[in-house]
Amino acid sequence: MTATNSITVAPCSRIAGELRVPGDKSVSHRAAMLAAVAHGISTVEGFLESEDCLCTLHAVEQLGVQVERDGASIRIDGTGGLLREPCGPLDLGNSGTGMRLLAGLLAGQPFTTELTGDASLCSRPMQRIRDPLQQMGATVDLLGEGGCAPMRIRGGRLHAINYPLPVDSAQIKSCTLLAGLYAEGTTVVMGSKPTRDHTERMLCLMGAGVAGGGCEVSIESVGGTNLPLKGTHVRVPGDFSSAAFWLALAACREGSEVTVKSMGLNPSRTALLDVLVRMGAQVEIDAADALGSGYNPKTVGEPIGDVTIRGGGLRGTVVEGGEIPNLIDELPLVAVLGACARGTTVIHDAGELRVKESDRIATTAALLRAVGVRVDEQSDGMIVHGGTISGNVTVESGGDHRIAMAGAILGLLADDSVTVRDIACIATSYPSFWDDLECVRA
Ligand code: S3P
Repeated sequence: MTATNSITVAPCSRIAGELRVPGDKSVSHRAAMLAAVAHGISTVEGFLESEDCLCTLHAVEQLGVQVERDGASIRIDGTGGLLREPCGPLDLGNSGTGMRLLAGLLAGQPFTTELTGDASLCSRPMQRIRDPLQQMGATVDLLGEGGCAPMRIRGGRLHAINYPLPVDSAQIKSCTLLAGLYAEGTTVVMGSKPTRDHTERMLCLMGAGVAGGGCEVSIESVGGTNLPLKGTHVRVPGDFSSAAFWLALAACREGSEVTVKSMGLNPSRTALLDVLVRMGAQVEIDAADALGSGYNPKTVGEPIGDVTIRGGGLRGTVVEGGEIPNLIDELPLVAVLGACARGTTVIHDAGELRVKESDRIATTAALLRAVGVRVDEQSDGMIVHGGTISGNVTVESGGDHRIAMAGAILGLLADDSVTVRDIACIATSYPSFWDDLECVRA
């Protein structure tokens, strides 16, 4: 490790160990926001103490919500729905989830708020949430170039809408459902493919009238700022997307075995496990919680379990269609798996990758090419040709946490060391990444 913002990762011939990863990022954001507008006290166990989630927590404090933090245990004293006008712009850092979901809550407030973030966040499309919020009655100005943040939201009395999603995005769906909490009537959001449903589960847990599931979800409300949400206890599972680094790494290395304990197994997030099985890895799932189906407040929650993976002998696969939203954040890793597999691995229907923390089709392709892997970049994905991963190179993260971590995984798999530049961004989602890497280096 150098004193600068880079690290050199040496190869590792066998990966082994058992670990727990930090809390789920999506669930932590939602816990902070929904607890903030619920009535009474919520306690959150296993909150992800990453830059992204701490930005959200800080934002709700600036909106007048009392938060007490003891490491990953948080106590939030919710306002019941009405927030306080903040003194200045709220800075959501690098977090698209923080900005887009918070915008939904702010659309129902009787004041104006400005939301901003870092250069990456202020280059990501926000028109996609402006449309539903304006249709519901809020005024949203996008102050950045080309429909980007900073964003000014003048909230107020909202009415319910039926909203067909322009892209299958959990962030747009969640933003609309959160605004729907404040809207009179039944707000319905329709997609063409299911996306992660953490918002629906938590809303249901807190007593909101959520119905549907899969491609169509609705929320019923009487409107106004007195919300039908009760504070609750939220147990945040280990983040599937963080665990994915170790599962993919072990899958690539013959003779490796890794177990991730207490990780989130929400079925709207686990498609990578299907991909790993298709590619030839051995996957064993020990699901601790058997939960009911549908949004029933008695049984809804986040499924948690242990996953063990034994690696080696991977073959290429095709990842496309309905699988894409379910593993959208794991696609850089699917490309890494493809690099270690026999034959070609094809990713289609993933144009959304172009508007993540970086253009992840371009940054993933550049990462793999830097280590000698052949990649054909396509407008909505890529074709990865399996082969040798060559070290003794430097790769760039482009300031994108998932690309930086994928670069480190390539270092462990390469035939010589790989230097990854611009690694500070990893703190946005996985501050203990390097400790966990040492834990699985056999
Ligand atoms: C997220 C949804 C996904 C994902 C992001 C987190 C969420 O984005 O990429 O990292 O917490 O809702 P989209 O919904 O825009 O695809």
